[in-house]
This record gives sequence, C-alpha cells and structure tokens, in this order.
Amino acid sequence: MAAPAPLLHDDADPSFAELLAQRPQLTMHAQDGLLLEEVPLSRIAAEVGTPAWVYSAGTLRRRFHALRGALEDARVPSEIHFAVKANPSLAVLRVLAAEGAGADIVSEGELRLALAAGIAPAHIVFSGVGKTMAELRFAISQGVGQINAESAEEIGMVSAAAAQVGRTADVALRVNPDVDARTHAKITTGKSENKFGIAIADAPALYAKAAATPGVNAVGVAVHIGSQITAGVSAYAAAYRALADLVRSLRDQGLAVERVDCGGGLGIPYRNEPAPTPAALAGAIAGTLGNLGVQLMVEPGRWICGPAGVLLAAVILQKHTAGRRFVVLDAAMNDLVRPAMYEAWHGIVPVSPREFVSSVSPCDIVGPVCETGDTFARNRGLPMLEPGSLVAFLDAGAYGASMSSTYNARPLAAEILVDGARFAVVRPRQSLDALLAGQRLPDWMAA
Ligand code: LLP
Repeated sequence: MAAPAPLLHDDADPSFAELLAQRPQLTMHAQDGLLLEEVPLSRIAAEVGTPAWVYSAGTLRRRFHALRGALEDARVPSEIHFAVKANPSLAVLRVLAAEGAGADIVSEGELRLALAAGIAPAHIVFSGVGKTMAELRFAISQGVGQINAESAEEIGMVSAAAAQVGRTADVALRVNPDVDARTHAKITTGKSENKFGIAIADAPALYAKAAATPGVNAVGVAVHIGSQITAGVSAYAAAYRALADLVRSLRDQGLAVERVDCGGGLGIPYRNEPAPTPAALAGAIAGTLGNLGVQLMVEPGRWICGPAGVLLAAVILQKHTAGRRFVVLDAAMNDLVRPAMYEAWHGIVPVSPREFVSSVSPCDIVGPVCETGDTFARNRGLPMLEPGSLVAFLDAGAYGASMSSTYNARPLAAEILVDGARFAVVRPRQSLDALLAGQRLPDWMAA
C-alpha cells in the first residue's frame, strides 16, 4: 500500500506457499484445505456463508505478547493501547483486554466498545483531531486515563467539559514533529501540512497554558506520525528525538511531564516488503526516550490485528472478455475498501487443497459493485476457479470490517472468531431487513 517498496529479490508476487510460510496461523491441510488455527475455512463458509471476516484469537495473543516482549527486552516497558479503529470487534477487544491491553479510541462509540470489552477507563486514551463536547463530557465522566489534545481550542473544550461534569481530565499534548513517515499520503499524519497535532515550536507555550487551565491536568506529550510504516524506524527515531527535546525543555521551564505516548503505525508486510520489527521500534524508543523517567505508551492497531484476520469470499463467476479473465467474488469494495482506497495489496489464496496447488494464470479479481474501483487485484495469479470456489484475503484483520459500508445496499458481512479448534460467530451477517429498516418517507409523501 505504500509506494511500492524496493523488493528484496525480484518483483514477482509471492506464491501461495510463500505467503503461508510467513503466516503460521494459516496452514494448508491436504483434505480440509486452508485452516485458520485448527478450523477449516471451508467449514466456516458452509455454516456462516460468505463474505465473512474470520479472526484468530491465538494470533492476536501471540502478536500482543511479541510486542510487549520487545518493549520489555529493550527496557522500555510501555502501556499498550490497542487502536480500536483497526478492529472494533467486541470479541477481538475482549481477547486483547484479557492479555492486558488498554485502548486508544477516537469516538464515543469506540469508548463504549472498549468499556464493554472490559477495558478499565484508566487504560483508555482518547485521541483524535475533533472530539465533540458531548464526547468529551462522556469520556471525562467515565474517567478515561488520558485525553490527547491536538489544539489550544480543544484544551479549552476539555476544560469546559471537565467543569460541566465536575471532574479533572489528564491531558497529553499531541505534537506534530514534521517528519515524513514515508507511507501512503492518505495515512501519513506527522507532516506539518497534515491536520494532526500542534507544531513542536508552539508546544511549550501551549503546554504551559494547559498546565494552568482549570480542569486540565497536563501529564505529557504524544505523537503519531502515520500508519503502515515500513521504511525502517528512522522517522520514528526523528519524531521521538524531537519529543525528548521537548520534554527536556518543558521540564527546564518547571513543567511536569510524566508520560510520553509514542503512537502507533508499525507496518506489516502485506506482499513481501521489508517491515521493521517490534524490536527495531523498541530500540528507537529506548535510544531516544528511554532515559527520561516517563511512563511510556504505544498505540498500535494494524501490527497486532492485521495478520490475525482473513476475509473469506466465494467466486460468483469467472468471465472472459477482451482477452482478460475476471474473477467476480461475492466480496466487494464495500467490504474491504483498502485496495480501492490505497492501492493496497492483499494476498488472495484459494481455500481448496486442489486449487491451492493448481497452476495459476493471471486474472483480475473484482467484486460485484458498480465501480471500476471495485477491483481487488489486477494481473494476479489464480488457478481456474468454479462458482462457489473459496478464496481468503490475507491480513484483513485491520481496517477491514471496520471500514466496511453498505454501498450498493449490501449487508455488512459476518464476523467470526477462531480460537484453537473452536469458532463462533461474533457478529452475524446483517440481515436485509435490518439493512432496509429505519428508512421512512416524509409524511407528505406517505399520504
Ligand atoms: N494512533 C492514532 C492516533 C491513529 O490515528 C492511528 C491510526 C493509530 C494509533 C493506529 O495506527 P496503526 O498502528 O494501526 O497503523 N485505514 C488505513 C489506516 C488508517 C490509520 C489511522 N490512524 C489503512 O487501511 O491502511
């Protein structure tokens, strides 16, 4: 999804077997076909239908612990606030909460989900460039652990909301370090022309003002420079160095700084692009912020949940025209919008053991929505498929279901959680009745 990263070897797409080799949660079974953990995806398709999002609880746990372990090994133990926007499934949140994750939220809806998943308010950070007064009142009255404020205006709103609910809010100031995370333009957030945060140069005065504002307890600083960061950790290190300098100068002014929120954004290899490891990120944190004696926090989304999910889809038909083969799936851009929105590459792998090993030829893989942009991949290698053949989109656990819409009056797909040999529907497919309910005609038309 970033501008095509320099590839290690040649530019050929990885084979199905190469894709699975990097993803231990997925295996090909000679009879049962593609398994997520121990559950055949064909069984889920038979029982629940397609399209369907399927998440691996074991992968969520494994990746959460890998990240936590890397931070501990680098001697920068940090609170991990999972970015709920990446996957707001209550079941996913509950799995992560049970492992000790907090939450990074950006709306009252996400806050309610995090609370429903059992995450303590003290472990919830409220991020975002435009929180409403109603959202701030609700968050402060619930006792969220931190509000990341992004402007002088917002600090004023927090103060007013705190007064209205009779409480004080812990506030961190999100700064914009003006570094280029070298990711897709639509998800880079730490450059000065982006809407996020306040310029480092303006931060000392604003922090001092926040510290003197009634109802506001200025506790620290925060940064988030972008998402799907794969071009090494040098942009992180540059941002964190700027934060460390800021912390020192705030302290020189006599201001207390207890916390630093390092943001999220760690990228994953969707195709075969090199991506930094959690150890590299932890090293960048340790080398810049490690000696400040602050409580450190991170807010990853994709790195934890992206590889934990697949989107399971069935072939409606294959059509041949003008020398091209189009594989038309029952999943579409309303389900997984990332290819249309960011030119994102997702592995697309046959579920049947026979099709998995059949020879491939190029095709365009598309959905049924009436837009040319409803194209998941062009010139991708797939075997000849039949109506009803199943494919799995890999690494669909982040920004998949959470970005779905009902465009073309298509219901939201089902969501399923797999844990070992068990699976359960954690969000039933939206019914057409539910999709169509709720609309009404104005009384002057109904007559
Ligand atoms: N913290 C803040 C303040 C954020 O805005 C985000 C993501 C995160 C943390 C988590 O970032 P992550 O670790 O997941 O990269 N829809 C896009 C990604 C949008 C990211 C928005 N902010 C995509 O599908 O690639």
